Amino acid sequence: MESLTSPSDALVVRPLTPMESPSFRGMTFPRYRAHLAHNASGNVIRLGAFSAGEPVGLALVEVSKSTDRAQLLSVFVSAKWRRQGVGTKLLKELDGVLSATNVNRLQAVFMDRADELHPIRPLLQTCDWSEPTIRMITCFSSKESLGKAPWLKQPPTRLPDTGRLISWAEMSVSDRRKLQESEAPAELTPAESDPDIEPYSSLIYFDQEQPAGWMINHKIDADTLRFSHLWFRSKNPPRGMSGLLLVAHSIWLYCHAEALHPLTRASCNFRANNRRMWNFLNRHLRRYLDSIQPTFECEKTYRPSDHAA
Ligand SMILES: CC(C)(COP(=O)(O)OP(=O)(O)OC[C@H]1O[C@@H](n2cnc3c(N)ncnc32)[C@H](O)[C@@H]1OP(=O)(O)O)[C@@H](O)C(=O)NCCC(=O)NCCS
Repeated sequence: MESLTSPSDALVVRPLTPMESPSFRGMTFPRYRAHLAHNASGNVIRLGAFSAGEPVGLALVEVSKSTDRAQLLSVFVSAKWRRQGVGTKLLKELDGVLSATNVNRLQAVFMDRADELHPIRPLLQTCDWSEPTIRMITCFSSKESLGKAPWLKQPPTRLPDTGRLISWAEMSVSDRRKLQESEAPAELTPAESDPDIEPYSSLIYFDQEQPAGWMINHKIDADTLRFSHLWFRSKNPPRGMSGLLLVAHSIWLYCHAEALHPLTRASCNFRANNRRMWNFLNRHLRRYLDSIQPTFECEKTYRPSDHAA
C-alpha cells in the first residue's frame, strides 16, 4: 500500500484566491464549476485544502444574499487523501469562516447512492450536523426511455384558443415582468433573467394575458435537462388547459425538438410530500423512468454567540 505523509502536518486549508480557484474545477460538479472561474462573482465561499502546495480538497458554499442561510454546494477530497481527516478539516474551517458572517443556518442536500452509505453522512455526523431527512425525490430518465411513453407519440393538441402558450425563447420583456407579478409561489417563479433556463422546452401559458401556468426547465450540464418548476393556477383554472398538458408539451418538445437533441438525459425533482406529483408520476411516468432517488437534507445552525463580536 502506498505510504503517505501524515496530512495533519502538511495540510493547509484556507480560502482560495481567484487565481488558484480554476485548478480546483475537477473537484466539484459541472454545474458549480463556474464558481471557480478566476473572475467568478457571487457570494460563494471557496475553501481549498493543500498538501505541500498541491490541491487535495475543496468545499464550496453559496451564501444567500437575502437571508441568513447558506448552502454547502459540494465537498470533495482527492481519492488518495480520503479517511485522513481532510474533509473534517475543510468543514471545521468552514465553521470558522461562517462564524464571522451573518449566516445562521448552513444546509446540505445530497442523494444517497443505491448500493452503499454515502460517505458524506458520517462526515457530517462527525462535524455535528443534524440527522439527514428526506426532502426531495429526484427522477432520472434517458430521452430514449422517456420517448417510449405512448402519450408522447403525437404532439399534444388539445389547447384552448382563449390562451397563449409560448416558450421562454418567445417571451417579451413585459411577459417576463408579468411572471414576477403572478400569484405563483416565489420558489416556483423563474428569475427574469436566468442564463440556465432552457429556452425551447420551457413553456408559459397566458390566460387573458395573465400567466396561468408554466413548466420551466434548466440545462444542468452538457447532456441533461432538468424539468425544474411546474406551476399551474389552482384558483379559477383556465378551461381546457392543465398542468399535465403543460408537462406533456414540454416533454414532447424535449423528445422531438432538434435544438434539444444533445440533451440525452432528463431529470426532475419534487418535494417528497407532494402527493399530486406522486400521483402524476405513478399514473403517467413511472414506467418510462430509469431511476427514482430520494435526496436528503441536513443542516448546521450557528448561534449568535458563534459569530465573531
Ligand atoms: C465525503 C468526503 C469529502 C470525505 O472526506 P474525507 O477526507 O475522507 O473525510 P474524513 O477523513 O475527514 O472523515 C471523517 C469521518 O467521516 C467518516 N467517513 C468518511 N468517509 C467515509 C466512508 N467512505 N465510509 C464510512 N465513513 C466515512 C468517518 O467516520 C471518518 O472518520 P474516521 O476516518 O476517523 O473513521 C470524501 O469521501 C469525498 O470526497 N468523496 C467523494 C465526493 C463526495 O461524495 N462528496 C460529497 C457530496 S458533495
